[in-house]
Amino acid sequence: MHFHRHRRLRRNQAIRNMVKENYVRVEDFIYPIFVVEGENKKDEISSMPGVYHFSLDRLNEEVEELVSLGILSIMIFGVPHEKDECGTSADDAHGIVQKAISQVKESFPELYVMADTCLCQFTSHGHCGVVEDGEIVNDESLKRLAATAVSQAKAGADMIAPSNMMDGFVAAIRQGLDEAGFVDVPILSYAVKYASGYYGPFRDAVHSTPQFGDRRTYQMDPANAREALREAASDIAEGADMLMVKPGLAYLDIIHRVYQEFNLPVVAYNVSGEYAMVKAAAINGWIDEKKVVLETLIGFKRAGAELILTYHAKDVAKWLKEGS
Ligand code: PBG
Ligand code: ZN
Repeated sequence: MHFHRHRRLRRNQAIRNMVKENYVRVEDFIYPIFVVEGENKKDEISSMPGVYHFSLDRLNEEVEELVSLGILSIMIFGVPHEKDECGTSADDAHGIVQKAISQVKESFPELYVMADTCLCQFTSHGHCGVVEDGEIVNDESLKRLAATAVSQAKAGADMIAPSNMMDGFVAAIRQGLDEAGFVDVPILSYAVKYASGYYGPFRDAVHSTPQFGDRRTYQMDPANAREALREAASDIAEGADMLMVKPGLAYLDIIHRVYQEFNLPVVAYNVSGEYAMVKAAAINGWIDEKKVVLETLIGFKRAGAELILTYHAKDVAKWLKEGS
């Protein structure tokens, strides 16, 4: 009888290591950080155990730890003191995100700092664009977003990561950056972003739940795959340097298709709800956290993601150091 013995290449750890196709490395991670106004704050976000809000005076201790773990990059999200209709604080030179960027770049010049560019953390209505007569108006929003990106670049951001899903945001931000002299600052476009229930804990964390309606007029329908390729193609045409797919876990097919179809680096966003589910089950002792997290992250790599934006990054960096 002839059949193939696949198990021959699984017999011991050495051969398993030799035939391994994908790896999770600490260099793959972008770690999200939440900054808030105020003093002496390191407050755990209740739906995201192990993730905190930091005031600026407590930020460096966290960043110090990230650097010592070998994490190369962070993504900064800010919660401002004041929110208003047009998200005025988003492009304030002394806004919370701008202050955090310049502080981190000054203290840790080697750390690669990305800025999330959106309005929803800063608007009273919680939408990602400017609202007029109950509608999220596209082209007015672009001006605010470009101004926000420029202010983040001025503060020292190494990369701009717009997550707002307005049409033409890459072109508008690229033009804004170029005119302000930031031709060398790249754009990581959240090109493919679905209207997802998995963002719940993040919205709690930054108080950005829309006050009316939802985000389905600008974020994508989870039922659609080919539309993702159109989103990616237009962002590339507008000048995106890297592409994000978000969320990650329920969208591995999309990560794979974007990877296959285009030749820009792909980033998977392992979002807050995905993190919260794993943490909740782990805290209850229902799953082996380390196994499940490493398996999830290797799934993103296998699908084609070069980089992973994940709240698990610190834990994984520690496990990798211990030799997992
Ligand atoms: C908003 C934004 C969202 C996330 C990051 N920036 C989603 C949203 O509220 O629509 C989600 C991140 C996460 O869930 O971890 N521009
Ligand atoms: Zn937003």
